[in-house]
Amino acid sequence: MNLNKALTKQAYEEVENHIERVQEDPYFPGFHLAPPTGLLNDPNGWIQWKGIYHLFFQWMPFKTGHGAKFWGHFSSENLTDWTLEPIALTPGDWYDKNGCYSGSAIIHEDKLKLFYTGNVKDENGDRESYQCLADSTDGFSFSKKGVQVELPDEYTPHFRDPKVWEHNGRWYMVIGAQTKEEKGAVALFESTDLREWNNRGTISHANKPPLSEFGYMWECPDIFSLSGKDVLLFSPQGLSPDGIQFNNMYQSGYVLGELDYPQASFDHGTFEEIDRGFEFYAPQTTEDEKGRRILFGWMGVPDQQEFEQPTIENGWVHQMTLPRELRLVNGRLHQLPLPELNELRAENVFNGPIDIQYKGSIARTSEIQLKGMVKKLCLFDNMTLTYDEKQSLLTLERPNVADGRPERRSCILSGALYSLQLYIDHSSLEIFANDGEAVFTSRMFADPENHSLFIESDGKVDMAIWRLKDNTVSYMNHPE
Ligand code: FRU
Repeated sequence: MNLNKALTKQAYEEVENHIERVQEDPYFPGFHLAPPTGLLNDPNGWIQWKGIYHLFFQWMPFKTGHGAKFWGHFSSENLTDWTLEPIALTPGDWYDKNGCYSGSAIIHEDKLKLFYTGNVKDENGDRESYQCLADSTDGFSFSKKGVQVELPDEYTPHFRDPKVWEHNGRWYMVIGAQTKEEKGAVALFESTDLREWNNRGTISHANKPPLSEFGYMWECPDIFSLSGKDVLLFSPQGLSPDGIQFNNMYQSGYVLGELDYPQASFDHGTFEEIDRGFEFYAPQTTEDEKGRRILFGWMGVPDQQEFEQPTIENGWVHQMTLPRELRLVNGRLHQLPLPELNELRAENVFNGPIDIQYKGSIARTSEIQLKGMVKKLCLFDNMTLTYDEKQSLLTLERPNVADGRPERRSCILSGALYSLQLYIDHSSLEIFANDGEAVFTSRMFADPENHSLFIESDGKVDMAIWRLKDNTVSYMNHPE
């Protein structure tokens, strides 16, 4: 049996042996995508093709740690019900033997094509990096086509995460890079035929104004245009905390500008964090068949107390965010929950005005909408959101997963707080403030038996609560 086949078989055995325990974990999500066993990280190959949404993911089936990643695969027709599909990519070839790392998908000549990074470590532990291709005629079984792009001279082997798109009849690829001076950068490649790729140089750099000393490595770049602007999303590593900014181990955010394709230059503004919560990294977007720019992120951050999470003892770790639509509003990216997510609602359990102090009890899969000015919201005696009206400052506090000490993330809103939408899924919380102007994405390891909700407001707040469905993802769909 060849190595890819053997690895695939081993991975399915792992799923079979662990899936029950994983799904019995009270922290396992009811409507978010999580690994059937092992570790999940970045969203990959996110695309809609022939009506079906495909979301691939970085997956380590053999342990709750990082290593030689597979590409797992979920599909959905409606963005709420998902199915785990057969494994898409297995790290069994010389050019990807230490991991089929992150990448993206395109549609070309009636095929779904995946570009990904082949991660290789030699006998001395030195890294090599290859940008590789795999394709599929049905969207479910993939055949590898090998190395497409080799490492150019100007970068170290920290060179990965190709995102490919088409513009004016040509193909473009951005790659997350580290220059030889150990600065983060984005590399641009161009192709007319998806075979020959030309190196067009560095289009954004940690020391190119308006940025300076902006990290030693940039991961997972993504470029798209939105409302007449070009948006570059990326995940820089090596920033120091700066007041309420950059408080996670690594960041994810964007710059806005104009990409001059013929000149291969990108004039852009300063960096803005896209999410203000504790766990958010490596987002990827696609434009769906309705023309919406939809983002998925990883609800985790590398090296940030990943292995202190209590799900480890049940053999799994991490999950995806919900899918969100991106809009550009007054020069800032807003993230909005998709209308499709309303299909998650199982039962409306509250509707109406609330007193200055509200105390209630809610299910561990719930959606809460609040219109008006909330001053404080405390969920499961664990997560506390407070709003300081004087500074328009919204702050989320929780006990640290390792030592229980309070930790905070904050954000300043452009105006007064007028709306909140919260999605609660066992051990995660996504908060959308003021119609997606600010989003806080976080894991939440509250006592699973705790259902309490406490809200303090100015007494002029309307609230709606829905209990949400608790099993919208099907995890057992692989060949015997
Ligand atoms: C981001 C990342 C990528 C890499 C992948 C490996 O979380 O480090 O740069 O391709 O994860 O799993």
